[in-house]
Amino acid sequence: MENQYIIKGGTPLKGEVTIGGAKNAALGILAAAIMTDETVTIENLPDVRDINVLLQAIEGIGATVQRINSHTVKINGSTIGNITIDYDSIRKIRASYYLLGALLGKYNKAQVALPGGCDIGSRPIDQHLKGFRALGATVTIEHGMINTFADSLVGNHIFLDVVSVGATINIMLASCMAEGRTVIENAAKEPHIVDVANFLNSMGADIKGAGTDKIRINGVSKLHSSEYSIIPDQIEAGTFMVAAATHGDVLIKNVIPKHLEAISVKLIEIGATVEEYDDAVRVSADHRLGHTQVKTLPYPGFPTDMQPQIATLLALSEGTSTVTESIFENRFKYVDELARMGASIKVEGNVAIIEGVEGFTGAAISAPDLRAGAALVVAGLVAEGYTTIDSIHFIERGYENFEGKITALGASMEKIPVDDERAVMKFKLKVG
Ligand code: UD1
Repeated sequence: MENQYIIKGGTPLKGEVTIGGAKNAALGILAAAIMTDETVTIENLPDVRDINVLLQAIEGIGATVQRINSHTVKINGSTIGNITIDYDSIRKIRASYYLLGALLGKYNKAQVALPGGCDIGSRPIDQHLKGFRALGATVTIEHGMINTFADSLVGNHIFLDVVSVGATINIMLASCMAEGRTVIENAAKEPHIVDVANFLNSMGADIKGAGTDKIRINGVSKLHSSEYSIIPDQIEAGTFMVAAATHGDVLIKNVIPKHLEAISVKLIEIGATVEEYDDAVRVSADHRLGHTQVKTLPYPGFPTDMQPQIATLLALSEGTSTVTESIFENRFKYVDELARMGASIKVEGNVAIIEGVEGFTGAAISAPDLRAGAALVVAGLVAEGYTTIDSIHFIERGYENFEGKITALGASMEKIPVDDERAVMKFKLKVG
């Protein structure tokens, strides 16, 4: 049954929240884990839908997946009997395409369905394929499947035409056991690239320079077992930072403050207080914040995955702000939903022009995609009255126990079945 969130807005968030493991790092790491025949243990795994779907795809090709608890998994890739990832897996989670790089790197062949477009725009994977070809693989696309094979993979110098997180990770996977040396120029620098590289190195790979735009990979003949703990999720942390900045005081624990700098700087610029500790940040605001300009960029720039959340905050701030989306073409679909709550935002091309309003009012709205859905939750938490958000399966792709974490900060939010009037009444009676 479909669920929805119901929120009663207006209570400032106060207290502490603990951030889980990084979803986007975990997706690369789980794919990498199948590249050895020895058992790999991965800890601090977020228990979210994307991860669980990828684990099913990994089981689907015959690897042994043993869930030790909700945040720990053991994977053994020695039992893999199939190198085909079908459309059903890719449709549910695009990042299943990391299995293309992982299988190609391990077995010199792989067959993975070509992902289609998605809710935030057309998402080509030409740079991934260019990388595989440069390593000597033949890549063809037939009947919706990408087929790739090589007699042997040989290291090469690869210059990415666009900075791509996915292509950088996929090429690292495909090349770490290739013959000789691979160099990826114009590589993405996101924290999850570094985490995937660190994980591969813990398995015996020889990858240097991850986190810079030039990654050097010396092929090794074999990878071995490892125990590895995934870094904290930058975007989950950023979402709670923004929620706290609407009005509140929250200590966000288990984060790497360095990864949050682009977000912290913007929040401070518009008047919120951000205090950094070794592995926590505290964000508070007790007054209406100011306006600014935000432009999404590859790391260390402002993350596109935080664009809807910061736009929601600016929609409540004083004055006129602009938010420019420079990574994806169709990432403003939440604007119409926010308008239903009273926001005043005009989109022109890839720029949102935001006239700050003094408050939102609760409404029945729908999550258009993962991060936009999270932004709508932030909006609901501030809005006067009740907000219901449906299509929350998008949000559950990336946020573990969102309603539980938010409720623990003093707000009123529950997950209830869609069209369940009694559950709505019960919630309203409970929260008053
Ligand atoms: C990853 C993240 C996603 C985030 C995005 C940008 C994962 C699973 N997802 O997505 O949450 O929003 O990075 O930080 O980690 N491009 C091409 N050709 C390619 C590949 C990409 O033209 O072969 C373009 C894309 O259309 C986009 C830009 O490059 O405009 C960046 O995309 P990319 O960094 O590859 O994003 P993903 O890895 O898909």
